[in-house]
Order: sequence, then structure tokens, then C-alpha cells
Amino acid sequence: MGMMKTLTAASLALGLSAGAAAAAGAVGEVTDYDFSFEGPFGTFDQMQLQRGLQVYTEVCAACHGLQYVPIRTLGDPGGPGLPEDQVRAYAEFYEVWDPTLFDGEGDFRPATPNDHFPASGLSNAPDLSLMAKARAGFSGPYGTGLNQLFRGMGGAEYIASLLAGYTGEEKEEAGTILYENTAFPGGWISMAPPIWGDDVVYEDGSPTDVESLSKDVAAFLMWTAEPKLMARKEAGFRGVLMLSVLAVLLYLTNKRIWAPVKARAKETPAE
Ligand code: HEC
Repeated sequence: MGMMKTLTAASLALGLSAGAAAAAGAVGEVTDYDFSFEGPFGTFDQMQLQRGLQVYTEVCAACHGLQYVPIRTLGDPGGPGLPEDQVRAYAEFYEVWDPTLFDGEGDFRPATPNDHFPASGLSNAPDLSLMAKARAGFSGPYGTGLNQLFRGMGGAEYIASLLAGYTGEEKEEAGTILYENTAFPGGWISMAPPIWGDDVVYEDGSPTDVESLSKDVAAFLMWTAEPKLMARKEAGFRGVLMLSVLAVLLYLTNKRIWAPVKARAKETPAE
């Protein structure tokens, strides 16, 4: 009984603190988008990751970088899963600075799968490798954070909401143009709307409206931030399964050990 009370108190405290944290920082509105990787059994949708990679490459990479992501991981199982030759072809699309070339003076060469994605090309555009883990999404219901407790922090929801959250209003402040955005904390961001709809042509004929493109690239950025998400969930599930089997075995063993004692207790009538 005491145990249950402690547990309830702990989970309440967890939920409340998550809610309070969200309430303190964010004032932006985040849409509770559905993603395939949410929840305890969620998995990445390989086709969506490939589409997101395309959006990242054709739109976001002009300003942003993914400097912590090795290009070869595009071929890893559980990720976009590109075949080896495509990973190599993709890598060659980028140029990297190699200080060992040209007699130690350094020179550019095409990237190989062992190189990382380039860093941000625009100095004030943040690196996106871990962005999906650095932001929180829908913190409801009623700011309790219960949604996040069960379905993950929702960084991808935030990114998708941000990309789809422009109102079209802009203003100039100290020489910088700011764009009104309903998801960005503070409401004004210096990133011009990057997605307008039909920005890319998908080979699989998936929809290319603003929300679809935003969700695809957000899913891809969730994968760059947590490429081992599926393996982690699988290991957790195996752990729970093993502990459940162990619990049943212990219960049966316990019964067996005490059976003779119980039988004896029944034979001797209570005084
Ligand atoms: C023209 C350059 C440019 C392009 C293209 C661009 N961004 Fe940005 N992005 C920026 C800049 C600059 C900032 C910093 C904005 C700020 O803090 O006011 C930023 C910030 C961000 C942030 C961080 C917001 C936060 O909460 O701090 C995210 C996420 C992001 N961009 C995602 C993307 C994605 C995804 C794409 C591709 C669909 C993209 N950006 C395309 C320039 C760009």
C-alpha cells in the first residue's frame, strides 16, 4: 500500500513538473501531430524518413547543417535504409574540406559515406542534428505533460508546427526581418518560411502540401536526433517481457515453498 502511494505521488510530481516546465518556457502553439514513432511500440516509417531526407537536402541544407550525423548511417537498418550505392552517391553530392590534401595545404573533395553531413552554411542557422531532442512538443492535456510522459517529448511535433506555423506577417527590427510564427516561443522568428508546398517532387507520389512536407522533414530530424530509437524500445520491451516471466516463476516458486507450511497450519486447529 505504501509502495502504491509513493508511486502515485512520484508520477503526479513527474507530470506536474513536466507541465510546469512547458508552461514556463513555451508560449508557442504546438499541434499534436500523429507520428509513426510515438508510443511504446512506435517505429520509424522508412519511406517517410527518405522523403524527409529529400526535403532536408533540397530545402533546409541551404542554411542548416547536420554536423553530428555520419552520412553512412543513411544506410543503417531502422533509418532511411538507403542501399549502399545510393549512400555513396548521396555523399558525393557534398564537398568537404580535407586538410591532408594538396601537400598539407588542404583542399575540397567530394564527401564519402564516412564523412559527416556539413555544418550549417549560414552562421545564425542552428545545427539540426539534435534539434528534435532539444525542443518539446504538445504538453497537454491541460499542460499536465501526460501526453509527453506516454508518447515522447514531441520535438518532431514542434518542428512540424514551426514549419507550418507561419502567419504571413513580417516586420523589421534592428535591420532584421522577423516572420510571425505561431509555434515559435515569442511569436517572431528570423527564419523566412522555408516551406511553401510543392517545394519538392516525391517519387512515390506522396502529398507535398505544407503540412505533409513539414511532418516528413520533422520525422527525418527525429531520426537524426535519436537514430537508435527503435532498438531502445525493442530492448525495453524485451526487458519488460523477461521481468514478467520472472515474476510468474517467482510467484509459483513461492507458492511451492510455502505449500507444506500452509498444509500443516490447516491440520493443527487454531487454539
Ligand atoms: C534561408 C535559410 C534557412 C532555411 C532554408 C531554413 N532555415 Fe531553419 N533557421 C534559419 C535561421 C536563420 C534560424 C534561426 C531563427 C531564429 O532563432 O530566429 C533557423 C531556425 C530553425 C529552427 C530552430 C527553431 C527554434 O526553436 O529555435 C528549426 C527547427 C529550423 N530552423 C528548421 C528548419 C527546417 C526543417 C528547414 C527546411 C525545411 C529550414 N529550417 C530551412 C534559416 C533557415
